[in-house]
Amino acid sequence: MAILVTGGAGFIGSHTTVELLNAGKEIVMIDDFSNSKMEAVENVKKITGKDFKFYEINYLDREKLEKVFEENKIDSVINFAGFKAVGESVKEPLKYYYNNISGAIVLLQTMQKYGVKKFVFSSSATVYGDPETVPITETSKVGGTTNPYGTTKLYIEQILKDIYKADNSWDICILRYFNPVGAHSSGLIGEEPQGIPNNLMPYIVRVASGELEQLSVFGNDYNTHDGTGVRDYIHVVDLAIGHVKAIEKLDKENSGLYIYNLGTGKGYSVLDMVHAFESATGKTVNYKIAPRRTGDIATCFADPTKAKEELGWEAKKTLEDMCRDSWNYIEKQMS
Ligand code: UD1
Repeated sequence: MAILVTGGAGFIGSHTTVELLNAGKEIVMIDDFSNSKMEAVENVKKITGKDFKFYEINYLDREKLEKVFEENKIDSVINFAGFKAVGESVKEPLKYYYNNISGAIVLLQTMQKYGVKKFVFSSSATVYGDPETVPITETSKVGGTTNPYGTTKLYIEQILKDIYKADNSWDICILRYFNPVGAHSSGLIGEEPQGIPNNLMPYIVRVASGELEQLSVFGNDYNTHDGTGVRDYIHVVDLAIGHVKAIEKLDKENSGLYIYNLGTGKGYSVLDMVHAFESATGKTVNYKIAPRRTGDIATCFADPTKAKEELGWEAKKTLEDMCRDSWNYIEKQMS
């Protein structure tokens, strides 16, 4: 029986596939390369020394998706397919609602048609909006998302809750990621944002490499220890292992709907990240203080206790690992 990984060539999808293969799972992968490359698929095979079936398709293509379910014995699905650029989602909301939500619906309908009911969904801490208190637990209020990307995550979570309410033989796990950074230690797979990055770590590495001139630190007047925004950065390999644990949980339970925060439980500021990066890599990160970015919040970090207790999962990698591995990936790309 195989796990279907959608969007498997992307940043989190590729790292998760490595960990699933390392754990001895059978994989079928689909990706349309809208934000990734074939090279990532080849590199996942290189890292693990294992082979798997790959289809270049878009998950909105119902006919081709059905063929994947017909040609393989699929037991569960992990959905990474989806657009994720926050700024673009504000400018092109329909593109985001159509791709992310309609894609998830086509995928879930296809699963239903073929009697596959185990589903792991890539959600985000963005569903908590501006949290009332930190650390954030899974029972904290959701809503108040500040951009269409975040709203697609919120709506898909609601769709999953409704599906489970209507038919409680579904076995669903929603994983709310905090801020994924880092890369595989081989330097063969990592994060490749197209154009100028939005997120902090990809921006820092490009300033360190000389590709971008200066980091703008968005606000130093927040109510945090140094005035800059605080987030829960998590190494992508730890995050990937969280998915293996989620699949194992679904395999153990016959049905249910489970929600877990995947974070470290520690918050670091923008300046903490700049300094950690400099000391882990010996590179200098040129920065200036700039105005706050619209939609940003002061502080966001997880209470990861539930994932530890119920999945037996805990983030292990340090901030130094995150910085070193992010840099190692970029250095390899440049050489
Ligand atoms: C962002 C998204 C969130 C998404 C997540 C994916 C917004 C408002 N939120 O979260 O929906 O799920 O990415 O990882 O975009 N920063 C700078 N300078 C920069 C870039 C970032 O100072 O050039 C600061 C930000 O103000 C923030 C911190 O670094 O305090 C982290 O920012 P970022 O990496 O963009 O993540 P989030 O905003 O937490």
